[in-house]
Amino acid sequence: MVSSNQLMANVADITNEQMGTLEVENLVVDFALDSALFKRQYMRAVNSVSLTIKAGEALAIVGESGSGKSTCARALTRLYKPTDGVLRLNGQDINCPENQISQAHLAKQIQMIFQDPFGSLNPVHTIRHHLYRPIRIHLPRLEGNEIEDYMLATLERVGLSPAKQTADKFPHELSGGQRQRVAIARALTTGAKFILADEPISMLDVSIRLGILNLMTDMKDEGIGFLYITHDIATARYFAERTGVMYVGHMVEWGESDSVTQTPHHPYTQLLISAVPEVGRKRENSISKDHSKSQIPLWKPESKGCPFAGRCPKVSNVCHERMPDVTQVAEDHFVRCFALYK
Ligand SMILES: Nc1ncnc2c1ncn2[C@@H]1O[C@H](COP(=O)(O)OP(=O)(O)OP(=O)(O)O)[C@@H](O)[C@H]1O
Ligand SMILES: [Mg+2]
Repeated sequence: MVSSNQLMANVADITNEQMGTLEVENLVVDFALDSALFKRQYMRAVNSVSLTIKAGEALAIVGESGSGKSTCARALTRLYKPTDGVLRLNGQDINCPENQISQAHLAKQIQMIFQDPFGSLNPVHTIRHHLYRPIRIHLPRLEGNEIEDYMLATLERVGLSPAKQTADKFPHELSGGQRQRVAIARALTTGAKFILADEPISMLDVSIRLGILNLMTDMKDEGIGFLYITHDIATARYFAERTGVMYVGHMVEWGESDSVTQTPHHPYTQLLISAVPEVGRKRENSISKDHSKSQIPLWKPESKGCPFAGRCPKVSNVCHERMPDVTQVAEDHFVRCFALYK
């Protein structure tokens, strides 16, 4: 049998595309609200967000429910059509009609992993079936036994051994962690360079979360770039080199993970971090206490100001007027907040 390393090298030859960056500049995504009688109303789920995912690195996005994290990821794969903004893969604009990059080509480069591994696997098909399909579509040069060997090597690569027995199983015969490993294997079979992981461990037992994060770290070391979406700022810091904090569709603070999490400057990031349970610390100013639907604004294209103004302990008049400019607070640490100037 061909060794797993040999196969991976072969596939690297086959895909033979330069690893690079996946980036979005000034992404805007609007969704139509239930239409009013005469005039269509929109909500702005993502407002002027720019981010870069680099090969071999992870960028985490943290933020409360509804802040637009998943919408950003879906727009990056063009599952959602951006209302505005530029998407670039390895420097090439992938959202302009002239480039005509097919969804299949994009899927070969960019894969998503979702929160619920069971939901993304078909219960009536074996694991082999789930992995064969993307291999046939994305690596058509592999034939016969090569497909089986590559599939088994990929299962071994994500820690599912003995691979042969795993391949014969149905999703319900695997644990949650094993199913998420299958989802990762499926993403890898395409030769994807970027994986957008939308809360990949939040539904898993705490005891196996670290195993999945460490597997993703191995993938990162092999050159895959990750977007890691999470509510958990601690795992963001553990896994991702860089972290962005989103609130109501806006990126309010971003930069090197240690800097953002150790010295948060935006009052919202400070609130998020104060909500992380810590032994011996009183629950003070926690996000759960502070979190009330009514305080989270419904952002519309015509809305103005900082979306956090209604909850912000450091609010001033100007916060209701316009979104603050970007301030660089450290070498790789940026914040949008008027309170910095006080
Ligand atoms: N397909 C859609 N149609 C209409 N509105 C949508 C759609 N997808 C998302 N939204 C809205 O966009 C906003 C951002 O949603 P999104 O799912 O991106 O948030 P999120 O940060 O991923 O939240 P969560 O942490 O709960 O997953 C929400 O107000 C949501 O209701
Ligand atoms: Mg989401």
